[in-house]
Amino acid sequence: AGSGKFFVGGNWKCNGTKDSISKLVSDLNSATLESDVAPPFVYIDQVKNSLSDRIEIAAQNCWTGKGGAFTGEIRRVVFVEQLKDLGCQWVVLGHSERRHVIGEDDQFIGKKAAYALSEGLGVIACIGELLEEREAGKTFDVYAVSSWDKIVVAYEPVWAIGTGKVASPEQAQEVHVAVRDWLSKNVSAEVASKTRIIYGGSVNGGNCAELAKQEDIDGFLVGGASLKGPEFATIINSVT
Ligand code: G3P
Repeated sequence: AGSGKFFVGGNWKCNGTKDSISKLVSDLNSATLESDVAPPFVYIDQVKNSLSDRIEIAAQNCWTGKGGAFTGEIRRVVFVEQLKDLGCQWVVLGHSERRHVIGEDDQFIGKKAAYALSEGLGVIACIGELLEEREAGKTFDVYAVSSWDKIVVAYEPVWAIGTGKVASPEQAQEVHVAVRDWLSKNVSAEVASKTRIIYGGSVNGGNCAELAKQEDIDGFLVGGASLKGPEFATIINSVT
């Protein structure tokens, strides 16, 4: 990890019940840690009202504009104003599950990012690649952003998400360096050095320390292991 603040996000995806989430919240409250968690939408209010302020809340998606007439929608249309009202400070955008399962494209994700940023939400911007795209060296063709303040970049190789096949520290480091180089050439040297580039994909309590030693890994976006309070605490504290 570099010298900036290590950033660890827990992406709970669509997991949990009121009871399991209340147990997870109490585990996190009793650990000494600062991080971010992204609960399922329907539990954001419960989590915000019970979780320590040391842990910020991220939403897992948002819409491209203001709220209004979308009766009953929750899957695609989530309003930034309501997320802020619930106390969210971040939103995860461009996650591979939304790209590859729901079918979101870069343009749509870019519009959401622009709107979220304009309303003051921070964006955890996911980039990733399918195995064949990695081989073809196309990692950076899949995302484009214009404003880099309040953006954390999450590199999540699609083949490592939820598979137990974590990228090796060297593999992840190589891509993080390439992301930083890309930022330096295409945005600015300052943005490249300030932007936190975090890794996601089968991070757990056993592999986090080795990954965190890499100079350009500035944190993690954790799925499955973030649902286990003590293990998530180990991951958050993998750099002290
Ligand atoms: O956003 C985090 C996620 O996609 C990684 O999931 O379960 O492999 O840690 P997991």
